[in-house]
Amino acid sequence: MKRRETLDVARNSLASLMIGLPLCIWNTEFACAVQSLTWPEFITRLTKLVSSQFSSDWNQDSYVDSVCRKIALLDLDGLPLSPIKQGRIEFQSLYKVNSFEVTQIAFDQGCRIPPHNHPGMTGVLTCLSGKLRVINYELTSEGQLKQVADVVLRQSEVSVLTANKHNIHQVIAVTPCVVMDIFTPPYNTERERKTKWYGN
Ligand SMILES: [Fe+2]
Repeated sequence: MKRRETLDVARNSLASLMIGLPLCIWNTEFACAVQSLTWPEFITRLTKLVSSQFSSDWNQDSYVDSVCRKIALLDLDGLPLSPIKQGRIEFQSLYKVNSFEVTQIAFDQGCRIPPHNHPGMTGVLTCLSGKLRVINYELTSEGQLKQVADVVLRQSEVSVLTANKHNIHQVIAVTPCVVMDIFTPPYNTERERKTKWYGN
């Protein structure tokens, strides 16, 4: 091939690359934007994330942020919802290992879980359907409840707590609703025994 022809080929190849490059970047970003996780993929990623927790310097704030980012990728529409039963709150464990548990809770309208703490635990509560009011508290130095948040969750919105932040909450079903709780670590006999309930 002559030098002139070589230059033309090189110029055309570069032009093709320049045209194609933004498309590749856009495609990558688009792929990231629409990427969603199936339930098995979500559990696999959560298991991997949780395996690095519980160290002495465990940063629970950044951990719950990471859980929220994974929930944002989860295909919530593909998740079967627990049936809502009249006048009841129904709990269904979806996945439980020693390090974390995912539970679905179905509330009929007006049902409420009064203020309670979550000893040594982190929690990420995601609304799957309907509306759930979540009121968080912390304890004052005198041991009194101090309200620190009051939100109404709608589909795909989350409320988080850690061992030291917003750890006490009560929840009230504004409408019939289904939510998903992820507790790390999960309830066990000792944590259930240490759980405190605060008035009505
Ligand atoms: Fe709770």
